[in-house]
Amino acid sequence: MIELENISKVFNRGEANEVAALRNINLRIEKGEFAVIVGANGSGKTTLLNILAGAEKASDGHVILGGKDVTGLAEYKRSKWIARVFQNPYTGTASDLSILDNFRLAALRTQPKKLVIGIDAGFKQRVRDMIAKLGMGLENKIDLLMGSLSGGQRQALTLLMSVMDTANILLLDEPTAALDPKSSALILNLADRLIKEFHLTALCITHNLKYAHQYGSRLIQFQEGGVLRDYHANQKGALSLQDMFGWFE
Ligand SMILES: Nc1ncnc2c1ncn2[C@@H]1O[C@H](COP(=O)(O)OP(=O)(O)OP(=O)(O)O)[C@@H](O)[C@H]1O
Ligand SMILES: [Mg+2]
Repeated sequence: MIELENISKVFNRGEANEVAALRNINLRIEKGEFAVIVGANGSGKTTLLNILAGAEKASDGHVILGGKDVTGLAEYKRSKWIARVFQNPYTGTASDLSILDNFRLAALRTQPKKLVIGIDAGFKQRVRDMIAKLGMGLENKIDLLMGSLSGGQRQALTLLMSVMDTANILLLDEPTAALDPKSSALILNLADRLIKEFHLTALCITHNLKYAHQYGSRLIQFQEGGVLRDYHANQKGALSLQDMFGWFE
């Protein structure tokens, strides 16, 4: 569970270029919830994810993960619970290492989950089996350099690696912005499947309203650093895509 209590963020306080990026955010995302976040450019979505991950410090308020107050905890210490996927497919993986070696690194990052137990002889086969489930035909190419793959392939592998370790929170910041429609659908389907399979708590930012409508069990709209709309599963289910387009007119 993620709890954000009275989170505010002011950049460049007291200077001419002062920005109130977040204004007193209060949100509680339950374990297993898949919250999709929409909102205009500059409305504070990425800043919120950065504060959750510990990449930015809140000016005010508390971040509580699984009942533990982590407000003062460094990013690297939170990373054992938090996996992140970014807009740029090249951010999540090492280009000059093979697919297999990228998985080895990911498995070594923290104590592995039951899915991948250490780097033993069976590791290679387990990586192959996991990759086969993507249906991209990459399972027989695990010695290829990551840098030789397409953005969609890399993003899919990044997602897969992110759930292999101890992370139980998944933060996705426009994960499909650089992908074609087919790869985008594949990535969101995969995220949806992994979130359910591993009972992850997930926040996914997107500007694609069609995806925001289709995916997730919760829908949150940011506006000027605040939460303008917050729809839980039932309310979200009753929303039409047309209603959502109306939010941005
Ligand atoms: N490091 C920073 N220093 C100063 N201002 C910042 C910084 N990061 C973000 N901001 C400002 O805070 C506000 C919120 O930015 P943020 O990146 O969170 O928006 P966003 O909702 O993710 O937008 P987008 O949809 O364009 O990605 C913007 O006005 C932005 O210019
Ligand atoms: Mg952003």
